[in-house]
Amino acid sequence: MTTPLEQTGKARAEHVEKMFSKIAPKYDLMNKIMTGGQDIYWRREVICRAKLDAGASLLDLGAGTGDLAREGLKQNPTIHALAADFTLNMMRAGRRDSDKLDWSATDALNLPFGDEVFDAIISGFLMRNVIDIPRALKEQYRALKPGGRIVILDTTKPRKNILTPLINIHLHYIIPFVGGLLTGERDAYTYLPESTQQFLRAEELAAHMAAVGFKNINFEIKMFGTIAIHWGVKDS
Ligand SMILES: C[S@@+](CC[C@H](N)C(=O)[O-])C[C@H]1O[C@@H](n2cnc3c(N)ncnc32)[C@H](O)[C@@H]1O
Repeated sequence: MTTPLEQTGKARAEHVEKMFSKIAPKYDLMNKIMTGGQDIYWRREVICRAKLDAGASLLDLGAGTGDLAREGLKQNPTIHALAADFTLNMMRAGRRDSDKLDWSATDALNLPFGDEVFDAIISGFLMRNVIDIPRALKEQYRALKPGGRIVILDTTKPRKNILTPLINIHLHYIIPFVGGLLTGERDAYTYLPESTQQFLRAEELAAHMAAVGFKNINFEIKMFGTIAIHWGVKDS
């Protein structure tokens, strides 16, 4: 059985879409288990870093079930929040009748939006899944208004430290075992930790952001070096 990491281009994107489609019903539960419930705090921080004014337009890209966009609305009920993803099942699993959220079937590499329309674009655990990181960043830069903010929450390649053996047991044994048990999709929960270890270091992602033109780039590392929040601004 091939994993998305052994594939490139369109084949990899299709595999990623199918994988998220299958795990969609249990995605939120597994997220809470994998992160020990810490993702709530990271999501809050992402929204704080987006510095949304009243009435701001927010795009949550690779929104999945929409938790980040929902947190945006919780902190700033006056904003317009759009949750966008290319896996319809993830968005279906996240829809609530009570939500003020808008949804859009969207490929992060070809945003179906004009130039300079959003005050902030945020993403959670999207960037390590896209097949072309520079292009995804360029698209976000294009769709942001001048002065608009990008905030990226994702895993990051952990540096070796005293906790490395424990992190490896968590990533390579516990997550695939629990994920397989809960969703019946052990392959997906083997891919998630493997893609974390093959993803960019935080400094490398920051360099990609700078290369497409973002300024005031910074990042913060969390969860024993396995999670990073990056942010930056489009020049006004
Ligand atoms: C790990 S989930 C993250 C979901 C949510 N953002 C969160 O914070 O929990 C990654 C999401 O990115 C989406 N995705 C991956 N590649 C994409 C692309 N090229 N365009 C749009 N969505 C994409 C997947 O469909 C999936 O819903």
